[in-house]
Amino acid sequence: MPLTSPREMFEGAYQGGYAIGAFNVNNMEIVQGIIQAGEAEQSPLILQVSAGARKYAGKKYIIKLMEAALEETTLPIVLHLDHGQTFEICKEVIEDGFSSVMIDGSHLSFEENIALTRQVVDYAHEKGVWVEAELGRLAGVEDEVSSEESVYTDPDEAVEFVERTGCDSLAVAIGTSHGAYKFKGEPKLDFDRLVKINSLLPGFPLVLHGASSVLTEFVQMANQYGGKVADAKGVPEDFLHKAAQSGVCKINIDTDIRLAMTAVIRKYFKEHPEEFDPRKYLGPARQAVKDMVRHKIKNVLGSSNKI
Ligand code: G3H
Ligand code: 13P
Ligand code: ZN
Repeated sequence: MPLTSPREMFEGAYQGGYAIGAFNVNNMEIVQGIIQAGEAEQSPLILQVSAGARKYAGKKYIIKLMEAALEETTLPIVLHLDHGQTFEICKEVIEDGFSSVMIDGSHLSFEENIALTRQVVDYAHEKGVWVEAELGRLAGVEDEVSSEESVYTDPDEAVEFVERTGCDSLAVAIGTSHGAYKFKGEPKLDFDRLVKINSLLPGFPLVLHGASSVLTEFVQMANQYGGKVADAKGVPEDFLHKAAQSGVCKINIDTDIRLAMTAVIRKYFKEHPEEFDPRKYLGPARQAVKDMVRHKIKNVLGSSNKI
């Protein structure tokens, strides 16, 4: 099965009020867990690769892992660059065969962001590749993506940005953030802002980054078996369902994968201190990714049986 463009996926999602999960991949077990979940739920999938993932796994290995996945599955799959910061990295992955890229100019001024996004759009569209852009800024720290403070997306600027750049989808900042510590008090998102953006850009697919729910099950398991992620808090799952009713077609999930794997591996180490065969703990970690992604698809995103 060749790679798919997000276009058809997002059309169905927008009309149907559901979202496609965009899951970050860093190694073989993560790719396999996600694909197995998609198979079990017959759901379209977006697999996304960050600059950090390319550095960790190696550019060639990531592509070969994807090729193996595509040979084994009949699911529609998008291979997407997550948080591309420069024109060069977008160009490079397009040459590698990615079907979608994100150019993240959110750290730049409005005009600079427009200029960079436009440059990527011009190049990508010639090759039939989808372009996600970002306006506004999410707080949170990851490997290669970090910001101290969030800047929410201005709805009128979003319209101007989309018109002037020609981007295909837009990541908006409405209160989510990257990582496991998203809220200090009650979780809150600016849904009025999202509804306004959606009403000004009817039919246009929006994207929600920083959308992990930081599942209590895995936070507790990690902490019980020696971890220290006590105050972790994510986006409540019903918020994500609500976002999908307001034009959000792509929901990004990375932290939940990290937590699921880590919690299960911590538990395994504690319960089997004598074991040292990586397959013994990476197997359950892969299974945890599968079960968690399956739960998301079925109970949160609503993309089961949408292929
Ligand atoms: O939004 C960022 C993703 O979670 C990727 O994180 O840069 O640590 O791979 P990373
Ligand atoms: P989380 O940290 O909430 O999983 O967000 C991931 C993300 O936005 C990747 O681009
Ligand atoms: Zn992100």
